[in-house]
Amino acid sequence: MGRLQGKIALVTGGASVPGLGSATAHRFAQEGAVVYVTDRDAAGAEKVAAAIRDAGGQAVGLSHDVTSEADWDQVMATIDKDHGRIDILVNNAGIAVLRPIAELTTEDWKLQNDVNLNSVYYGTRRAVAAMRKVGKGGSIINISSVAGLFGVPACGAYAASKGGVRIFSKAIALETARDLIRINTVHPGMILTNMQDVAQEDNAANYDATVALVPMGFMGEPDDIANMNLFLASDEAKYITGAEFVVDGGMTAQ
Ligand SMILES: NC(=O)c1ccc[n+]([C@@H]2O[C@H](COP(=O)([O-])OP(=O)(O)OC[C@H]3O[C@@H](n4cnc5c(N)ncnc54)[C@H](O)[C@@H]3O)[C@@H](O)[C@H]2O)c1
Repeated sequence: MGRLQGKIALVTGGASVPGLGSATAHRFAQEGAVVYVTDRDAAGAEKVAAAIRDAGGQAVGLSHDVTSEADWDQVMATIDKDHGRIDILVNNAGIAVLRPIAELTTEDWKLQNDVNLNSVYYGTRRAVAAMRKVGKGGSIINISSVAGLFGVPACGAYAASKGGVRIFSKAIALETARDLIRINTVHPGMILTNMQDVAQEDNAANYDATVALVPMGFMGEPDDIANMNLFLASDEAKYITGAEFVVDGGMTAQ
């Protein structure tokens, strides 16, 4: 029996390949979950869902801009109509606006926080309500970053959004602990995805120096994060809430 057999999961930002959302969706489906793969790139989300189905899993691709409350309502209503419950939410969708403070515009700041932080509030609020209605608990995994734990130059807006995700998750975890709704954050270090390509272009000056900070000396793979998400989503993590998990090749140990 799979580690997520029979569970209903939603993974946002799942279109990117290689990406943390698509890797997570594949791992969840391999372990028996029905996975809703959503993204503002609807065609990409459906492509990932189709690949999961081709591999023998159960997945649905949906259009979903995580900054839109109307989209959140629609996605949650679809899952409720199909299954009457949601067991797992991974708030994974994100962007990285990496600019020094002198170059950072107010527009950048608002966009960064809207996509990475406000979205986590929209999703968590709705998932908590849906999980409470069923009364059987659940697991919410909010993807933060090592940049939500320590300072990185040219990273102010991104760091603020990811630090916000971390402490928001702890606060709500305390509110939902008695409901057995577990809320945890995952803090990836440098993982090889499409986002890293963009980060490299935007911030070439700091890029090599940042990789040099990884004690293991290389970047991680999307499955390194997907496997952590899988553990937190599963009942193996039933006594874990309000906690933060780094997957970073040792970066934060320094
Ligand atoms: N890759 C890393 O090294 C790394 C490190 C730390 C944290 N993270 C975090 O992990 C998460 C996933 O990152 P990734 O590396 O897979 O990035 P990625 O760019 O490869 O994928 C991100 C996905 O989010 C989607 N997305 C962006 N804005 C959206 C919106 N408004 N609505 C819906 N979908 C939207 C994109 O279309 C894309 O499919 C992000 O939250 C990111 O901040 C990544």
